[in-house]
Amino acid sequence: MKIITNIHDLRNHLRGQNRASFVPTMGNLHEGHLSLMRIARLHGDPVVASIFVNRLQFGPSEDFDKYPRTFEQDAEKLEKEGVYILFAPTEQNLYPEPQDYRVDPPKDLGDILEGEFRPGFFKGVCTVVLKLFSCVQPNAAVFGKKDYQQLMIIRRMAHQFALPVEIIGAETIRAEDGLALSSRNGYLSQNERLEAPQLFTVLQEVKTALHQSSLNHGLIQEIEMTAKNKLLQRGWEPDYLSVRLRQNLLLPSAEQLASQQELVVLAAAKLGKTRLIDNLEI
Ligand code: PAF
Repeated sequence: MKIITNIHDLRNHLRGQNRASFVPTMGNLHEGHLSLMRIARLHGDPVVASIFVNRLQFGPSEDFDKYPRTFEQDAEKLEKEGVYILFAPTEQNLYPEPQDYRVDPPKDLGDILEGEFRPGFFKGVCTVVLKLFSCVQPNAAVFGKKDYQQLMIIRRMAHQFALPVEIIGAETIRAEDGLALSSRNGYLSQNERLEAPQLFTVLQEVKTALHQSSLNHGLIQEIEMTAKNKLLQRGWEPDYLSVRLRQNLLLPSAEQLASQQELVVLAAAKLGKTRLIDNLEI
């Protein structure tokens, strides 16, 4: 595996490749990330991964400096997965001057759910992803469904800018007890780690409840409320738990419910100091 830290060398290495498959990450890799590498391998060759902790997507209250940086271990894991190039640009190289041009996703998608609680987050994500795409010029790129809204926003961005890259969504990888794998799980205390799978349990309960009845707004709100209350009672601080349309993450209208449009339930909640997110397609 070649570790490349600047755009110029990356371009030299990838010259003439038009089937590259790409997985962008911020490092601190776990089995979830590695599953993305395996999927990338099915969609192209060579596989390029990136590690770049992107300052632009951190809010003022989110600690960019404390984000876990585990480069040596990450590189070893990627090498074992058969990644051909690890692109790990320095900040100086990716943002040599203030990144004044930004990609601002539409408000109805970028400012809801995660975007409501992390203002500017998706603007930072889209800007870096577009820039990384421009560096790597992949034919396909893989993103986890765990970050459901991120995947959808990037897919739309690629579509609207007519980027020649296929965006592939990969299923969430879970621990045996159901907890979605995430770099943030490392922040949980032992007791919090035992409690953490409850977020997924609650989402499964929402799914079961939705399947048991013919749906209307009142009922959905009731089910959402019951789920949030359960989390609250168990000591969580929910930011949102919301049933949305899969196609655009908007609230379903009565007609859309009647015509059984596909739904997804998304949630974010704090357990102690750690904020976890998860989702489940209904
Ligand atoms: O999902 C992530 O790890 C990041 O948001 C991404 C896509 C690598 C952009 O920094």
